[in-house]
Amino acid sequence: MKHELLALLAPIEQQHVLAFWDRLSPDQQQSLAEQIRELDLDLVHSLVHTHVLPRNGPQGGSPAPLSTSGGVARTLPAEPPASLAERAVGPPAIRLNGAGASYPVDEARRTGIQAWSSGQLGVLLVAGGQGTRLGFDHPKGMYPIGPVSGCSLFQILCEKVLAAQRRYDVTLPLYIMTSRATHDETCAFLAQHGYFGLAPSHVTLFRQGSLPAVDAQTGRLLLESPSSLALAPDGHGGLLRALRSQGVLQDMQDRGLTRLFYMQVDNPLATVGEPLFAGWHLLEQSELSTQVVAKQAPDERVGNVVEVDGRVQIIEYSDLPAEAAARRHPDGSLVLWAGNIAVHLFELPLLAQFSTADCTLPFHVARKKVPYIDESGYRVQPERENACKFEQFIFDLLPHARRALVVEVDAEQAFAPLKNAPGAPRDAPEHVQARMIRLHRRWLEAAAVRVAPGVKVEISPLAALAPDDLAGRLPQNWQIEADTYIYAAADGSLAWRGAK
Ligand code: UTP
Repeated sequence: MKHELLALLAPIEQQHVLAFWDRLSPDQQQSLAEQIRELDLDLVHSLVHTHVLPRNGPQGGSPAPLSTSGGVARTLPAEPPASLAERAVGPPAIRLNGAGASYPVDEARRTGIQAWSSGQLGVLLVAGGQGTRLGFDHPKGMYPIGPVSGCSLFQILCEKVLAAQRRYDVTLPLYIMTSRATHDETCAFLAQHGYFGLAPSHVTLFRQGSLPAVDAQTGRLLLESPSSLALAPDGHGGLLRALRSQGVLQDMQDRGLTRLFYMQVDNPLATVGEPLFAGWHLLEQSELSTQVVAKQAPDERVGNVVEVDGRVQIIEYSDLPAEAAARRHPDGSLVLWAGNIAVHLFELPLLAQFSTADCTLPFHVARKKVPYIDESGYRVQPERENACKFEQFIFDLLPHARRALVVEVDAEQAFAPLKNAPGAPRDAPEHVQARMIRLHRRWLEAAAVRVAPGVKVEISPLAALAPDDLAGRLPQNWQIEADTYIYAAADGSLAWRGAK
């Protein structure tokens, strides 16, 4: 086996990963061999030579563009984000409620209801990230985010899909992308909880690929242990490769799906089943629609949805120069105003087209601190960024869509990202929960329920996907004085309880 592996590694000068081979148990050898065989070594080699080594050139390394093609096939001009930003303007957008649209809102609602009811729409949930900032010991989807119920993100999002199925009387196949880091636990968790009411035959879990972290100076693959490479998921853009390699695209086509509602596992407010977004998408004949929120400050940590040379695309907040971010119109509003919340609607043929090897998205390189095993077998905990990781981002499809549509939504209703550990200044569990509570309080108040100040309220998606679902189903003159979770009882009526 060692010779076979050497034959794979030698042409790309990465044989050192077998340095401890003779000391490994047969099981460990097997597992390392599998990791090596699963990698696209030509791609890794090309990434090292296009993105890592040029930065360490003789002049001390003027940085290569952060976002360029991976060398397998070139689809985007390799233009650095700073120069893109110079020409970037705010994207044309319509408001979810119809402001700026060329069609009446009622038509959008009717069209959206048809889209959700058609049997041609599936739901895609990406849950393969490592969730390093949150620092939770399990996949992020298992985080107990419900402010009163303690329900996990997976439960809330699966219940949204189930509620939308009931509302539209249709099956909405759910596809959950996991990774090496999250797959086994996610499968076990969903099975243990009966897929939160969804039919298992309509829930498909599939694993995205991994890419190795490499030494930022030498481009050598890093070992996480003597028997394991330092691997990381290949970014949510890895979805495209995984759709084909895992047979998921075929499954979608076999089920007659033509479009997919896309959401991330870290946003419990993602608006599954909301009709207007799908309505505008269809009326505007969009191939890729994306929800944005108006940024409150230039340095907000969301990707910037912009238009450059007539094409919609996203510039990451970390790549956007401060002066471009701060540009304002004479009325004081931000020029680059649109923040990405990673809720999209894709036409399936676009995904199919970009899931082939000759049509690949650009790779982004991130410098990270990655612990590794040195040549003598010692584990090194680096103090500074020592490694490069490679990722693709699904939103890089935007400029390739024949027609892309930007729909502005209200962050209070649609976006509560869980990124950071408790106590962080933003996007921590307490911020997510506060937004969930505010939203549900508003829904209750609209249904003439009084909620005492400081009381936490939470509504299960099975009880209400939208405020209208509460109408006439709650006690008259109800005053909520203590923390309350409203859920659907077995007979479909509404029930409630306090915190567990
Ligand atoms: P983030 O980019 O915020 O990463 O993912 P993360 O893994 O949640 O957190 P950090 O950066 O390690 O702290 C946004 C969404 O994309 C998914 C995540 O699961 C999350 O739903 N994602 C990210 C993937 O599915 N695969 C990836 O390779 C990366």
